[in-house]
Amino acid sequence: MIQPHGGHLVDRVASPETRLSLLDQAPAMPHLTLNSREMSDLEMIADGAMSPLEGFMKRADYESVRDTMHLTSGLPWSLPVTLSTTGEQAASLTEGQNVALHGTDGTLLAILHLEEKTPYSRADKELEAQKVYRTTEEAHPGVKAVYEMGDVMLAGPITLVNHIPGQPFAEHRRTPAATRLAFAEKGWETVVGFQTRNPVHRAHEYIQKVAMEIVDGLMLHPLVGDTKSDDIPADVRMKCYQVLLDNYYPKNRVLLSVFPAAMRYAGPREAIFHAIARKNYGCTHFIVGRDHAGVGNYYGTYDAQLIFKEFDKQALGITPLFFEHTVFCRTCDSMVSPKTCPHDKAAHVFLSGTKVREMLQNGEIPPVEFTRPEVAEVLIASMRATAATV
Ligand code: ADX
Repeated sequence: MIQPHGGHLVDRVASPETRLSLLDQAPAMPHLTLNSREMSDLEMIADGAMSPLEGFMKRADYESVRDTMHLTSGLPWSLPVTLSTTGEQAASLTEGQNVALHGTDGTLLAILHLEEKTPYSRADKELEAQKVYRTTEEAHPGVKAVYEMGDVMLAGPITLVNHIPGQPFAEHRRTPAATRLAFAEKGWETVVGFQTRNPVHRAHEYIQKVAMEIVDGLMLHPLVGDTKSDDIPADVRMKCYQVLLDNYYPKNRVLLSVFPAAMRYAGPREAIFHAIARKNYGCTHFIVGRDHAGVGNYYGTYDAQLIFKEFDKQALGITPLFFEHTVFCRTCDSMVSPKTCPHDKAAHVFLSGTKVREMLQNGEIPPVEFTRPEVAEVLIASMRATAATV
């Protein structure tokens, strides 16, 4: 089994005794309410998906990640994972103190062992935006989220005392320890991870299946944390994945599991993060296609592949599998990419996202070369249900 990033799987979930003692002390602690993205980060730190992180980053790691894409320990890491609050609230907190972290519904989730509080200025945020997102434009959803963070960064290890209540997709929610166990039970030595925030179309299916030819199993790992409001909601996507798997994939070769992360839309930097996290879940390979984790025109089509050249392969540990832009070619009569097809665009079935949305809204099933009809039907039904409630 592939080693977790940094050598061991972090487990920051309180033992039963520690939990009881922390629950006892928590009412006397100052408290902070997390937003949904911070809750996603918290869950992933606690269950080891973000190994070797044991908490929210301190300034030195934050700057090192921002400037060098490595933690101060020298391990590759591409995205800041920070917690922030307002100056006013931070003024009442002291380094060395325990702080109770609550979810948006008020549930106590974890204790932050506050080791450091440092200013998080507008200049810091702009520098982070430029280096991590390659733009300072607020129109970029990831940059906007950075600008909306508080003015003080709070850092230190966390201890989870309660799992986030009422989370959807319980049967598909597996910690890295659980996916590792599942792979071992299935006898899979090599596993390819597939990140997605969209319904699976034929291009996705094709690149997954090409990858499946050379590994033992596929972990279809849709991201179910925060996404942009115009992305298709996770519950609808899960129905799409389910019908697709039921009809077109061998059951004993695929594990559908959810990835609790929030989307940052950081393109190349996020591709590295996605790969490292999937290594923690036990994947040996990771698919990176066209414009991975991109948004708008902020990144070049293959920037998320090129960035892998900036890392030492051994230190990264997981093997990326790169795929060029895949479409169906009517002349070849198969799925193709620029690497395999000599024909020009006229032979290719390419539909823009807007065109697909239009077709689905009119109840039209897009061509089978673009999407499986079962998937289109789920999407049409969800659009009708939404229209009926508006
Ligand atoms: S992402 O934000 O999660 O990357 P999406 O769910 O669309 O978005 O993509 C999932 C994976 O499939 C990514 O690695 C992406 O690069 C890849 N991908 C999506 N569409 C294509 C395509 N037509 N050709 C090649 N790769 C693709």
